Amino acid sequence: MSDGGPKPVRIGLLGRGNVGAAFADLVAERSAAVEAATGRSPEIAGVLTRSEGDFGAILERSDLVVELMGGTDPARQFVTDALRAGRPVVTANKQLLAQHGDELFGIAREAGVQLRFEAAVAAVIPIVRTIQESFGVTRIERVFGIVNGTTNFILSEMAASGAGYSEVLKEAQRLGYAEADPTDDVSGADAAAKMAILARLAFHTQVPLSEVAYEGIEAIRPDDLAYAKELGLSLKLLGVAERRDGGISVRVFPCFLYRGHPLAPIEGPFNAVMVEAPAINEVTMSGPGAGGLQTASAVLGDVVSILAGDAPVHETRTELPIVADVPSAFYLYLEVADQHGVLARIATVLGDHEVSVKSVVQRGIGEDARLVMVVHECLESRFAEAVAALGELDELRSAPRYIHVIEDEP
Ligand SMILES: NC(=O)c1ccc[n+]([C@@H]2O[C@H](COP(=O)([O-])OP(=O)(O)OC[C@H]3O[C@@H](n4cnc5c(N)ncnc54)[C@H](OP(=O)(O)O)[C@@H]3O)[C@@H](O)[C@H]2O)c1
Repeated sequence: MSDGGPKPVRIGLLGRGNVGAAFADLVAERSAAVEAATGRSPEIAGVLTRSEGDFGAILERSDLVVELMGGTDPARQFVTDALRAGRPVVTANKQLLAQHGDELFGIAREAGVQLRFEAAVAAVIPIVRTIQESFGVTRIERVFGIVNGTTNFILSEMAASGAGYSEVLKEAQRLGYAEADPTDDVSGADAAAKMAILARLAFHTQVPLSEVAYEGIEAIRPDDLAYAKELGLSLKLLGVAERRDGGISVRVFPCFLYRGHPLAPIEGPFNAVMVEAPAINEVTMSGPGAGGLQTASAVLGDVVSILAGDAPVHETRTELPIVADVPSAFYLYLEVADQHGVLARIATVLGDHEVSVKSVVQRGIGEDARLVMVVHECLESRFAEAVAALGELDELRSAPRYIHVIEDEP
């Protein structure tokens, strides 16, 4: 500035919804702190919504662009244009990065500007920064956790109240923890996009979103949670990205955890992510995984990092194959005829497929007889074959139901 004062940093804000509006407020509120930390005072140079602003004009008068619109179109084009025009970009858009991250990181690299995205995964939990910077040269073995707060709220409520999925979903919508169309969250698709981003960072390899397998929580029944309690288990929707057989496996699925597991006590609309590596053992971070202010806070943190000149590297260094068939332990729920020898026949079928039983709970009599068991870790394909064989038994009154289990007991 001509008066010799600090030069402001002019921010072009794309989107002023939940996060964008909170970000604009936070910029005003924390302006002095940002200036103290970076020597530059932030100001909003222009805002784009569906009814306000012109992208070209905003870009022209901005030093840095913050994309908080969501979706891939037109966000992809705007982010591309901003990077090509030499503007660093901060975004909270997981779909944009999971689908077009490689392309956008390439454009950022060519343009020599930063593209930061801490808020795209687990909002305010600094997992992106931690993996990229603190563990940037650490050989990470596994990143996993609860990366969707909506589903964690629903599962926690179902376990606590015994209520069914649909009823609890309505409550989550009423409280603002689930959107009017909750499909992306409850199907596991939102978590899959976040895990694709984390896996790429952790393993320095491309992770096509189409190769991230996911299952949601729609089919979970209160029964499952009640039996699980008896077995000392609690249910979470987990995202898991890990090295396997020279490749990586990246998946999202409902999973039982034993009490004592670091993720078991994470209840309600919270997120928690664990990183495992020989050099660090295990690090767990937890906190709010969403919320306008919390997400905006992570976005402002990225703005400060850009002003501080810190530049993480986004190159993929290897091409690791995606491994689809991996070992897991399982919870298995069987509705059985109350006949002599039924447990033995089931055990035989499991044994024939080299699936071994860790614990069994037997409940009900007559038409209501059920067996709930946990089986030890085995290849998923082998377990699927065993389940198919069980499904052929006359003694079963309905198709077997199963859910993953992480076997580590405290
Ligand atoms: N909400 C959270 O807790 C949270 C957490 C982590 C990450 N995120 C991510 O943050 C981003 C923003 O989320 P949000 O909850 O703030 O969304 P939102 O409330 O729906 O706000 C979206 C904003 O973008 C504008 N917009 C959307 N499409 C546009 C278009 N084609 N042209 C111009 N403006 C457009 C909207 O304009 P109008 O105002 O005119 O509709 C609105 O101002 C998303 O990528 C989301 O995944 C959100």
